[in-house]
Amino acid sequence: MDSAADSLGYAGKRVVVTGCRSGIGAATARLLLDAGAEVHGIDWQDSDLPLAAFTRLDLRDPAAIAEAVKAIAGPVDALFNCAGLPPMQPPLDVLKVNFIGTRMLTEALLDRMPAGSAIVSVGSVGGARWPQHLPELRELVATADFAAALAWCETHELAQADAYGFSKEAIAVWTMTASARTIAQGVRINCTSPGSVQTPMLAAIEQVTPSERIDAVAAQIGRRSTAAEQAWVLLMLNSPRASYLNGVNLPADGGFAAASAVAVRQA
Ligand SMILES: NC(=O)c1ccc[n+]([C@@H]2O[C@H](COP(=O)([O-])OP(=O)(O)OC[C@H]3O[C@@H](n4cnc5c(N)ncnc54)[C@H](O)[C@@H]3O)[C@@H](O)[C@H]2O)c1
Repeated sequence: MDSAADSLGYAGKRVVVTGCRSGIGAATARLLLDAGAEVHGIDWQDSDLPLAAFTRLDLRDPAAIAEAVKAIAGPVDALFNCAGLPPMQPPLDVLKVNFIGTRMLTEALLDRMPAGSAIVSVGSVGGARWPQHLPELRELVATADFAAALAWCETHELAQADAYGFSKEAIAVWTMTASARTIAQGVRINCTSPGSVQTPMLAAIEQVTPSERIDAVAAQIGRRSTAAEQAWVLLMLNSPRASYLNGVNLPADGGFAAASAVAVRQA
């Protein structure tokens, strides 16, 4: 694997990676270790990486999130929100991990993030329909805390009908909304929208989804992404070298979103 060396400015930086056990989160943690960062991992399953610290945390549990945050010393220079549950899991669990708990953890860490630090979250091409649901998503994003967000999801069928897609729409809208507030304290916040990425999650999705549907998202580039290809994008977005990028939802999909936007069909 290529080394980031210090060209992206991570040497000696304290960073937090959720979902560090597997897939994109594990690839991100590996690159950050390679780049000389002090990596604090978070996951509900143990990690075998040589991390500076690891916190076992279930992002569905707000009390556990509050406890975990206390155990992470500041300052935190970068936060990588990579944890996620796939569409086959119970809708409210998916919403809790992919958005509600991720938002709670981020907001709780924000007060120990100095000016110049940055946050990135992994969204999905599955969240591309956020403009169609903007009024509802604005309501959800405006909820004050974990309990209020959960109550909103429990009472809105839209949130649970396609919980995975809606959780990723929420990541996109929350990122854009929060960016105006966080940048006032010098903290950038961005997200990515990956296409098909060959990880344990995608393998599980492929058990219940035709491969053609998964590969349709990779039609432009002709292959699925590796986890490392996604991790590099996350490192770039959170790098101090990207100091003017804020509120971006970056497609990392080999051109799928671009082609969809202009309705380009494959020959
Ligand atoms: N793989 C893809 O094709 C793809 C595409 C678009 C977006 N994504 C997103 O990328 C992110 C990473 O997914 P991945 O493909 O690397 O999957 P993965 O299953 O390999 O990794 C997900 C990680 O999240 C952790 N996790 C799950 N539930 C948790 C919980 N309750 N508390 C704490 N940690 C928990 C898992 O233990 C695991 O380490 C997810 O947000 C996913 O939705 C993946």
